[in-house]
Amino acid sequence: MDKQADLKRIAELRNIIEYHNKRYYQQDSPEISDTEYDRLMRELQDLESHHPEEFSATSPTQRVGASPLAKFAPFNHPSPMFSLGNAFSNEEIIEFDNRIKRLAGVDNISYIAEPKLDGLAVNLIYENGIFKQGATRGDGTTGEDVTQNLKTISSLPLKMKHTSNNPVPSFIEIRGEVYIEKEPFQKLNLRRIEDGEEPFANPRNAAAGSLRQLDSKVTARRPLNIFLYGIGNAKDISFSTHGEALQTLAGWGFPVNKNIEQTRDINAGIKYFERIGIMRESLPYEIDGIVLKVDDLALQKKLGNVSRNPRWALACKFPAAQATTVVKEILVGVGRMGTLTPVAIMEPVNVGGVMVSRATLHNEDEVIKKDVRVGDTVIIQRAGDVIPEVVRVIPEKRTGNEKKFKMPAKCPECGSEIVHFEGEVAHRCVNISCPAQLKEHIRHFASRGAIDIEGLGEKVSAQLFDARLIADPADLYFLKKEQLVALDRQAEKSAQNLIEAIGKSKNPPLDKFIYALGIRHVGERTAKLLAARFGSMENLVAAKQEDLTAINEIGPEIAASIVEFFHERKNIDVMNKFSKAGIKPQKKEIDNNAPLQGKSFVFTGSMESMGRNDAKSIVENLGGSIHSSVTKKTTYVVAGSDPGSKLDKAKSSGVKIISEEEFLKLIGR
Ligand code: IVH
Repeated sequence: MDKQADLKRIAELRNIIEYHNKRYYQQDSPEISDTEYDRLMRELQDLESHHPEEFSATSPTQRVGASPLAKFAPFNHPSPMFSLGNAFSNEEIIEFDNRIKRLAGVDNISYIAEPKLDGLAVNLIYENGIFKQGATRGDGTTGEDVTQNLKTISSLPLKMKHTSNNPVPSFIEIRGEVYIEKEPFQKLNLRRIEDGEEPFANPRNAAAGSLRQLDSKVTARRPLNIFLYGIGNAKDISFSTHGEALQTLAGWGFPVNKNIEQTRDINAGIKYFERIGIMRESLPYEIDGIVLKVDDLALQKKLGNVSRNPRWALACKFPAAQATTVVKEILVGVGRMGTLTPVAIMEPVNVGGVMVSRATLHNEDEVIKKDVRVGDTVIIQRAGDVIPEVVRVIPEKRTGNEKKFKMPAKCPECGSEIVHFEGEVAHRCVNISCPAQLKEHIRHFASRGAIDIEGLGEKVSAQLFDARLIADPADLYFLKKEQLVALDRQAEKSAQNLIEAIGKSKNPPLDKFIYALGIRHVGERTAKLLAARFGSMENLVAAKQEDLTAINEIGPEIAASIVEFFHERKNIDVMNKFSKAGIKPQKKEIDNNAPLQGKSFVFTGSMESMGRNDAKSIVENLGGSIHSSVTKKTTYVVAGSDPGSKLDKAKSSGVKIISEEEFLKLIGR
């Protein structure tokens, strides 16, 4: 083993992975496939395990989760974490401003106005620029040490960026909010429902539940995000305004909300509140109001606190979109995995601008807890993009004629016995031929994240199924245009389009195909891992429990579910039908025909458009390699500004020299 080479590669891999983390999580423009990313991560894990002395708390491998904990250790916050006083009207906001002016003896106050994120507050400790420890707020004095879980949040820097403008302090407490964006939240919940788990009520609960996981590997799979908005105790550094502190945080590389503004007085603060209220729906994350903070830190100090709330900050809350209506009926839906979900059907009502007539009741426990009965008058709520839900019943409105809900003993779709497994919240129909499940199965197969067959949504899937033209997803590939035309409302043209769309889907990417099969516990991410590891359906079908659990993120439950799936007679038949139809899932590697394959580069001088590490990982991702000295084997020397002796060496040995511009052209930018 060449230790020097290993150490070099470790440093290199850490840089490359960090670069890709940034592309993926912060810039939303990944350059490499998940497979390639996983390969780099595994290579680094492997090298680090051979060189334990090279351990680094800031290595990207530290983000993938550690061994589960028995419980969280208590964490005493070096300085207390306060809460916020609330205002629900402009009058209350003006009152807050007047009080401050009075106490400060001035006639105008400038504020920093920030969106109030609906997540959970955390406190982070950095020592000499390195993330050391992090905790939940708890009671404000003592929280829970969730360091391992926080490390899994990709947008959280494990190392502060050090620049001459922003020297790194020896100790600092940084405060912020951990949250989940709306879209990943929806996806997470869909996956949970499909896996027979209870969906989270809202993104806040999902974020809190994920951050308070004893097994950080579970946390690593949740789409957590963070914004930083405050500083507690700090050594070697002080700020004069809150705005300056936020700017410094951003300079150190922390995610700071882009919608934060300075407002010159309280009227501008109120305007900001109104503006953010209009923007609210279009923001990718949920907010429940704004926070106004006195900008002048000396004044903040002077104002102090009243019990747990600082006098210098105020949460201005949006009114929750709620409405009152009557429950007409409680229906029970059957999901793809046979999970029964009670749904309240209500008199249509306008909730915050949207007409709502259905609200989920999640499961039987929820109906019992809230005691929702048919005929009840209820308050319903719609928070952001979350499915409307029943907040509570108004018992005073009861007449005595309301009917209690009972989970049906038989499946409303197929009449099979409903099963309630020990320890599970959900009731299930376990008949794998249940038409409701089969229809859902077909819809899932054709859906956007899966095979993506245009024109094959819920309605058409059900229509084809009910007409007995298809019984499973593989039957789709044997459909004839005439059969579709014979169906009511299926016009000639749309029949043609559907047949074409189905025909086009015969070579799906392997990971999409695996996901589309609808194996319990196999979501998009797991499907990608499986595709990367096994490379073909044949290999996956033949995989044993232990082959599956050998994959980092796959535990015994998922593995068992996969093995069971491919042992089920019906599923084997469907798989054979897929083969007969000529379905050939394709293993997808983004950089298969890597344009820089076999080419070796030496860089000299500095590049304008990218850092050295960026250049390096770009070259490597395109199949090339980077070296530190010019040899006969060097393909190109890329000369930036102020090139060093390598340029002379290149000239004397006749190696091709290219400029930064030419390099960019070469890599297709
Ligand atoms: S400042 C004294 N800023 O709101 C300062 N909090 O209701 C206390 N929150 O516990 C926190 N966005 O979880 C602050 N921009 C923001 C915030 C924010 C959300 C949460 C935070 C806090 C709670 C208080």
